[in-house]
Amino acid sequence: MIRLALFASGSGSNVENIYNYFSNNTNFIISKVYCNNANAGVLERCKRLNLKSLVFKRHEFFESSLVLKDLIETSDVIVLAGFLWKIPENIIQVFSDKIINIHPALLPKYGGKGMYGMNVHKAVKENNDAETGITIHFVNEKYDDGAIIFQAKTSLKPSDGIEEIAQKVHELEYKYYPKIIEQTFS
Ligand code: GAR
Repeated sequence: MIRLALFASGSGSNVENIYNYFSNNTNFIISKVYCNNANAGVLERCKRLNLKSLVFKRHEFFESSLVLKDLIETSDVIVLAGFLWKIPENIIQVFSDKIINIHPALLPKYGGKGMYGMNVHKAVKENNDAETGITIHFVNEKYDDGAIIFQAKTSLKPSDGIEEIAQKVHELEYKYYPKIIEQTFS
């Protein structure tokens, strides 16, 4: 049984999708949802889905081993699902090759600090790109820099607004992220 720690900062629609995908799979279990934002929508989902959660503050994450100690007890793999802080080195060292992220664009385009969520889709729109997509990759100590595991593309129409772009990307995320998690860690 592989125990997945899910990290999220926002609405958590990917958390719910991953939860649903693995709900009938006895090889994987969601151990806990880790969240840096006490007001995040993902915490409502956790209550509804009966998922354990841990909310932590910046100093607890970056200047203590509180989260690392908890992870060592609860989890084998870390899945970032809309998590916006960089993962500190103490966690990367202990969970090397066991941390996976989804980025809402085709890296190396639109990666790096500040490039998350709607900021990415705004930049894609401003550049009039004809396509965008998702990148699933291992996590290292730099933003959006670890080895790429999988990418998928979607085409864009000039009339697509930022919301439409976000929706197309979310569809790819829901379709592929759970499957790639399963394949990568089976
Ligand atoms: C997702 O689109 C995910 O790719 C993105 O945040 C969104 C979270 O949505 N992640 C990043 O931008 C990481 N750099 P959700 O809370 O509804 O799952």
